[in-house]
Amino acid sequence: MRAVDIIAAKRDGRELSQEEIAFLIGGYVAGEIPDYQVSAWAMAVFFRGMSPAETAALTTVMLKSGAVMDLAGIPGPLVDKHSTGGVGDKTSLILAPLVASLGIRDPMMSGRALGHTGGTLDKLEAIPGYRTNLSAAEFREILARDGFAMTGQTKETVPADRLLYALRDVTGTVESIPLITASILSKKAAEGAEALVLDVKYGSGAFMKESADGEKLARSLVNTGVAMGMRITALLTDMNEPLGNMVGNFLEVEECFDCLDGKVPGASSDLMEVTLELAARMAVLGGKAADAAEGRRLCEAALAGGKPRELFLANIKSQGGNPDQFLEMRGTYRSPYRAEIKAAEDGYISRIDAWQVGHAGVGLGVGRNRTTDAVSPTAGIQFRRKGGDAVKKDEPIMTVWAKDETSLAAALPALAAAVEYSKTPPKKRTLILKEITS
Ligand code: URA
Repeated sequence: MRAVDIIAAKRDGRELSQEEIAFLIGGYVAGEIPDYQVSAWAMAVFFRGMSPAETAALTTVMLKSGAVMDLAGIPGPLVDKHSTGGVGDKTSLILAPLVASLGIRDPMMSGRALGHTGGTLDKLEAIPGYRTNLSAAEFREILARDGFAMTGQTKETVPADRLLYALRDVTGTVESIPLITASILSKKAAEGAEALVLDVKYGSGAFMKESADGEKLARSLVNTGVAMGMRITALLTDMNEPLGNMVGNFLEVEECFDCLDGKVPGASSDLMEVTLELAARMAVLGGKAADAAEGRRLCEAALAGGKPRELFLANIKSQGGNPDQFLEMRGTYRSPYRAEIKAAEDGYISRIDAWQVGHAGVGLGVGRNRTTDAVSPTAGIQFRRKGGDAVKKDEPIMTVWAKDETSLAAALPALAAAVEYSKTPPKKRTLILKEITS
């Protein structure tokens, strides 16, 4: 077999066999097939797509490129959630302790910020001392005790995805439905979850800009997951505006804790709506509720009872942080480089564009352009107003914190330009467009 023939076959629209996919990916991970050939193949897949059988074969080959987390002996149900990525997308930090309080175990293996989207690991590491590089033994121990554990991908898990994702990121091949499907599902299968709820985002701040493409991605994920023996469901959710009222690493952890603490300001209500609907599906897949409506009632009652808040603080301690110190830092752990964005006119905010906020956030220090860049724990944006709110000219809309003076000055015009106004009240956004099941 030769890599060049596999590339040409995909270029010409032929369906590849499992053997051909295994040869290419295996050779790449072993260092025998160079980046430039895999880049050409990824571009051919981008234009030609893959059949369901090819997508499942790629996912399986990627999963088998590394170790699978052994969660045998940990009482289930083991249910996880995964988002395809967005801006201010922090639902994991609320729903992991929430579903853990219902008796579900959530083995959460998350990623870092890349491009305009945020990363759960960077957010958690904004808590001083918090470790996300858990060993397999630590992961198991914390999962068994606290009901959830938060870790990053290890060197051993899905090395094919680590290599391919970095290559796709610099070759314009991220936005490919089969490649995203295999990337996400190979990692989720490797972490040991029995069931999975997917938050598939569409809109300016997502990889899929149109809802029709988001739906195609959701169907590909669900169908491939089912073919691999997973119990899986997906919600198609709107990512045209940032989720919640904070974008930033410590800021987002703080917002999540406030939501667990029962303090949900108006600007966080979209965050809680999406979180509760995802958590409700996790309750159903975990066998705790007969349907999503019952799952949601259980989740709301659990939040009111305060157990998820306690589990969140217990997890900070388990993963190396100090819960008392975290509580004291709330409201004050901010960069000194601060400014306000004020309303440019009287009227309504029709939208604050997620993509522009995400990109400005990278400049402020929230995210990174290269995997090796450092992020700032204290940079970010707090929204005082969001889409749908009435505003008066010069009223503060956002408070902005940057890693330094220069990046603050550079981000402010972009953030001001992200705000769209209307003279009449805008139509209410539909946050959850539909559920996609097998
Ligand atoms: N998230 C992933 O893990 N992989 C992708 O390809 C896109 C989003």
